[in-house]
Amino acid sequence: MPAVSASAPGKIILFGEHAVVYGWPAIAIPVHQVQAKAIVLANPRGRPNEVKLQAPAIRLEAWLADLPMTHPLAKAIILVREHFQLATIPACTIRITSAIPVASGLGSGAAVSVALIRALSIFLGHPLPDEQVSSLAYEVEKIHHSNPSGIDNTVITFEQPIFFTRNQPFELLQTGADLTFLIADTGVKSSTAEAVNSVRRNWQSDERKYEGIFDSIGRIALEARNVIEHGPSGQLGDLMTRNQALLKEMGVSSPELDTLVEAAMNSGASGAKLSGGGLGGNMIALAQPEKVDTVKDTLLHSGAADVIITQLKKS
Ligand code: PMV
Repeated sequence: MPAVSASAPGKIILFGEHAVVYGWPAIAIPVHQVQAKAIVLANPRGRPNEVKLQAPAIRLEAWLADLPMTHPLAKAIILVREHFQLATIPACTIRITSAIPVASGLGSGAAVSVALIRALSIFLGHPLPDEQVSSLAYEVEKIHHSNPSGIDNTVITFEQPIFFTRNQPFELLQTGADLTFLIADTGVKSSTAEAVNSVRRNWQSDERKYEGIFDSIGRIALEARNVIEHGPSGQLGDLMTRNQALLKEMGVSSPELDTLVEAAMNSGASGAKLSGGGLGGNMIALAQPEKVDTVKDTLLHSGAADVIITQLKKS
């Protein structure tokens, strides 16, 4: 059998991270410039269930049987096997590669899961529909942090801009105008679990304050949806900056993120904020096309390890 493969993009959260965990709405878009890929090669001479995993980027080369069930890659494979109620999987090698920086708020964990679940289901002769891919990837997300909202696996599986509220059907977002975002990496790795847990602790110690912050963020996400869908996009930058102020109040920004947000704003961006869990990772800035080069140069001079430019095209 020839090798089969599947890919999945990265993502950014435009509005609403963290508050989305508590039931408020959020907006996310795929980032096609960075992808995770899974390749499955049959090994006709191997025995059933002899599955070799290779992920050079994390220096992993192991048999499935030797990995703990809590390992995200092992978990994804077992979930697919259980979904099809198979006792065994044909012998194969699964190779994972990814250009999505890890622990940076770009959804690398979810993208690897989605690519792997897709590729394996194709290899087994039953390509899974997107709904199912997303729901299995959500189960793997629980390993990364115990209480995921589901926004990462959804936007990465469906590869479309989404308006997302936890435990509700997501909505595809129409876009009224072209939007250009710069994604700047602080170079500081950060754990989503740590960020989500610290927000939970803060929320538990001052529920009133945190409910107020989440509520304000939810309102911003609603307003942003309206602006993205109907334009003009002029107010969108302000909404991002307001969202960032609330994320800072929540305690999930960092000096490096603040420096890049300030650099973006000082060089002509319309708005800027962290994206994802925070405490490091990436920040995003919205910029008019004529400002993009200047903002990019300024971000690189202000310490950004890398800058990706991505566009949301008018629907
Ligand atoms: O996995 P990250 O760091 O891209 O962040 C996910 C967004 C959070 O709202 C912080 C968590 C969640 O499950 O929605």
